[in-house]
Parts: sequence; structure tokens; C-alpha cells
Amino acid sequence: MFGLCSENKAGAQVAAFLNFALAEVSRHLPSMDLKSKINLEKLPRHIAVIMDGNGRWAKEHGMPRVFGHRNGVKAVRETTEACTELGVQYLTLYAFSTENWNRPQTEVAALMTLLVETIKKEIKTLNENGVRLQAIGDISRLPEKSYKTLKQAIEGTKNNTRMTLVLALNYSARWEILEAARKLARQAQAGELRPEDIDEAAFSNALATSGMPDPELLIRTSGESRVSNFLLWQIAYAELHFTPTLWPDFRREHLYQAIIDFQHRERRFGKTSEQLAV
Ligand code: FPP
Repeated sequence: MFGLCSENKAGAQVAAFLNFALAEVSRHLPSMDLKSKINLEKLPRHIAVIMDGNGRWAKEHGMPRVFGHRNGVKAVRETTEACTELGVQYLTLYAFSTENWNRPQTEVAALMTLLVETIKKEIKTLNENGVRLQAIGDISRLPEKSYKTLKQAIEGTKNNTRMTLVLALNYSARWEILEAARKLARQAQAGELRPEDIDEAAFSNALATSGMPDPELLIRTSGESRVSNFLLWQIAYAELHFTPTLWPDFRREHLYQAIIDFQHRERRFGKTSEQLAV
């Protein structure tokens, strides 16, 4: 009797495990299928993302906006993981724009707290996976705690080489372009640079993204089709991918789909299709 009972128990455990394994496999099947369609030789070197729709997602769930931001962190993690696994070199996420300061104070404070919490929680994983953290934007204006945590994480991951995760924080492209123009003007005024030497390379080098390849793919979630003051110089030739998915629902299969779409586009850079064929 006792033996039978423990056999039943073991059987139930095996069945539960098999059910769990089956559920896990079927959860990943759609993304595994999509992943196999990606040409790893033609990956975008740099993907930029405008993470949008957290507020609407929260509203759909009858919750305050901050709930959307908290759930957005899952999408940040999964996108970062997927890009690292694939071999994408740079992933830039628009986490806080200069315009976002105009949001209610409670939301701004919650976003800053979330940033600190997330960085502290994820730094070990970033290091384990060879991810270097960088930031673009006027981060000196962030609350002191956010600034310090961010700086420490940037310093603590600076030797990682597998992928660079760039957070755009207190960032706007017009601010960045103006800063670059001021920097070059000061150099010219000091006699260190002739105005005729200011070419595309010199200008790119004066931007916050100096040293990074330009994004080849820009993704925006939530069904909006705007670029909202994000990397305006750098996305000159980027392919744009707009998806109706709200950011907290964005998962690796959405990323794979964006990359597959990117790989199906003909990138002509001003040339004709015939010229590209030779
Ligand atoms: C846009 O959604 C989202 C943001 C302004 C913030 C993005 C922040 C996160 C995903 C969380 C923290 C990120 C990191 C990197 C730790 P929205 O609020 O504009 O949404 P709505 O358009 O639906 O109102």
C-alpha cells in the first residue's frame, strides 16, 4: 500500500514535470521557428528602440502607469538577452527623454527609482553575459542616486565586449546635435579645427554616440509612427520598424520579426537595385 502510494506520487511528479517541459517548449516554439529564419551573417550591428506604450498597457490592465513601466523592464531584459545571444553589437534603448521631465512628478520619481533598482538587480547578469553598459544624454541632471548607480554600472561593465547596451537617459537628438555644434565651434574658435574640416565623420565624432556604428534598425512599439527626437543624425539610413505591440508585451519573437523584416528590405543608400546587383 505504502509502495503504491509513493509510486503514484513519483508518477504524478514525472507527469507534472513533463507538462511543465511541454508548456515551456510550446511557449518558445514560435520564437524558435522565427529565430531559424534570421540570417546571422546579415544582422544589424546596432538596433535602437523607442520603447512606447507602457502607460496604455497599464490602463488596459486597469492599473496605474507605473505598473506599465515595471512590466516594461521584462521587455528590456528579454530584448537585451535576445540581442546578446544573436550577436547584435549595440542595442540602444530610449529610456527617458528630455521631454519626459514634464510628466507628473510621481511618475518621473518612479521611473528614476525603477532605473536604479533595475541596474542594481541586473549588473551581475550583464557581467556574466559580457554586456557593457553605456549611456547617452545629459545624465549629470539625473537625481544623484540614479546618476551614481548608473556611473558605477558603466564603470563596472566597461571591459565587457560581447554587446553594448546603451541607455538614452535625459536624451534628445536636438540637444545632442546642439552640443556637438557647440563643441566643434569651440574647437574652431580655439584654432584647433578649420571649419572646412567639419565633415560627416568629424560631426559624428562630436556626438554622444561617438565610436558607435549608426543604428541600422529602429524599432518603435505601440503603433506610433514617429521618431520623437531620437538619434536623428544617426538614423539617416536606418530601416524603421513600427509595431502595434505595446512595450511591456514586446518579447523575443517581436524582435526576431523586426530583424527578419529588416533582412528582407533592400538597402540602397541612394543607389539603384541594378547597381546593387553587381
Ligand atoms: C514610454 O511609454 C516609456 C517610457 C517613457 C519609459 C521606458 C522605461 C522603461 C521600459 C522602464 C525602465 C527602463 C530601464 C532601461 C531600466 P509611455 O509611458 O509613453 O506609454 P504611453 O504612450 O502608453 O503613455
